[in-house]
Amino acid sequence: MPTDHASSGQRRAATETAGPEPAGADVFTATVHELTQRAPAIVAAAAAELGAIRLALHFGDGTGGALSAHRSRLIATAHPPASADVEVYFDARAMNLIFDLAARPIDEVLPGSLDVRGPRDQVLAVWRTMRLLSQRASGLRAVQELWRCYRDASPHLWGKPPSPADSVIDGEPTDGWAAPRDTGWRALDFFDHRQPTGDRPLVGGTVASAPRSLWDGTRATGWWLPEPVADADLVDVMTACRDRVRREMNRLIPDRQPKSSLYELIRAYPTRQGKGLRPTLTLAACAAFGGRPDDAVRVAAALELFHNGFLIHDDIADESTHRRGLPTLHTEHGLGLAVNAGDGINLLAVDAVLSNLETLGLARTLGLIHEVLHMCRETVEGQAIELEWIRRATVPRSDQAYYRMSTKKTGWYTCISPCRLGAVCAGESGPALDVFNEAFRWIGIAFQIQDDVLNLIGEEALYGKEPLGDLLEGKRTVMLIHLMRTAGHRDRVRLAELLARPRQGRAQEDAAEILAAMQHYGSIDYAIDLADRLAQRGTQRFERDLRALPENEGKALLRQIANYVTTRPL
Ligand code: IPE
Ligand code: IPE
Ligand code: MG
Ligand code: MG
Repeated sequence: MPTDHASSGQRRAATETAGPEPAGADVFTATVHELTQRAPAIVAAAAAELGAIRLALHFGDGTGGALSAHRSRLIATAHPPASADVEVYFDARAMNLIFDLAARPIDEVLPGSLDVRGPRDQVLAVWRTMRLLSQRASGLRAVQELWRCYRDASPHLWGKPPSPADSVIDGEPTDGWAAPRDTGWRALDFFDHRQPTGDRPLVGGTVASAPRSLWDGTRATGWWLPEPVADADLVDVMTACRDRVRREMNRLIPDRQPKSSLYELIRAYPTRQGKGLRPTLTLAACAAFGGRPDDAVRVAAALELFHNGFLIHDDIADESTHRRGLPTLHTEHGLGLAVNAGDGINLLAVDAVLSNLETLGLARTLGLIHEVLHMCRETVEGQAIELEWIRRATVPRSDQAYYRMSTKKTGWYTCISPCRLGAVCAGESGPALDVFNEAFRWIGIAFQIQDDVLNLIGEEALYGKEPLGDLLEGKRTVMLIHLMRTAGHRDRVRLAELLARPRQGRAQEDAAEILAAMQHYGSIDYAIDLADRLAQRGTQRFERDLRALPENEGKALLRQIANYVTTRPL
């Protein structure tokens, strides 16, 4: 994903600059869109400030927009709302204050500059929202770039550049209003340069570095915030983690015979490239616990190998036809070779975990083995529960049954174990690892629900699996459970009949019929809302259970991922 998405906002802005001049409201909606992709934790924090307040936005070019929050999402539109609680007027000065990095800290000058009209308490909440958005958003290179594109395209919205006297911060002249300097800094540089310095020894001889904002170096680190908040650009960082781990994975797959019937098949899924969510979590958790992310690369690669092995076997069990945009392994090479390739990739993964002995030593490697065994056991148990439901043509009635199953089949190996493994690499062991369990259990369930929602309404090209495949497969998703709980008697009987058939007995029009029933009974909206609620529960647990962990880059990344699972488009 990340490469494709890396510059979506910039590309959009650039495209718009080629056509008619972009309207004032566009910069706002584009910023919210970009932040939702890259730093969902910032969006979630802003949404929490905004609460139920609905804003009407007015820009200097006469255009209007709207902003509101729904759970941890921000909803920005480039047309004026029918009604609003608070009116916000952005004149040229306000545009400079909010959308320009070179401006002074916004909380010094905002009250006299940004015109916010509405009830007093709501006005304060809106200021807090805007301040948070501008201060934390401006730390992200992609957002700066986006704003630069808009500034270039519609200079009149920003007015005349202020006098040099205005661009002095702490006695230091700034770059004025020029485009932000490219410092050459890239997210995740700290992975390469980080040295174990500082005075907080942790178990295993590694140390935690001092908290630092993940900032792109264009300005000082988040110096105007009362407490430094670290923000990570998730797209950049996931790309970097995924690529690093992918190189390691390639090294772990041997160049030997038989190639065409085994090792080429073993390479097939990893080569197609997934999101890299699990490796990112592992490296981030290692960093969060003060370890060197490099120490976690080997086990992150092992985890990704297990993941690919699970997928090969899962696609056989589910009779799926497409994975990551291409035919599934068994569709292409037949069942026998695919089963065997899955076994082979799992074997390589075990070997990779063991090979940590060379670098991490016996205690940590044993810890990793213990974690990996637990992870695999949870996964196969979860798969068994779900496959049995389908085989016996039963649909559980409660969401709780679904939570238990999806935590086992997905939550452990996708969310909880990657974090625990990273912490083990940093030298942690025992109950300290449990800090992740509750938060990432909820986040894992939300991740799976989002996955299932995307199968119904996602963009096929991004998602890469056959659309409506889950309906053909008869997967017991939360939508299906809701549908069977809510549908009227006649519909339920008809649906039960469709679901009792083997996969080959369900045609595309049957899948379309189930989908229509889900739409009719509100099952998809229910699932989207449920995923949001569960993810929010997870992020709240995250803040509570990981409170004691220093605010470093690793923790910032974990926070972004915790907020990402339900906003991801793939
Ligand atoms: C897919 O996982 C399998 C599930 C647990 C739903 P991902 O969505 O993380 O797969 P890739 O690696 O990005 O393709
Ligand atoms: C995901 O299974 C869990 C494992 C692969 C172990 P699913 O069947 O729900 O995921 P997709 O939809 O095939 O990716
Ligand atoms: Mg599947
Ligand atoms: Mg499955």
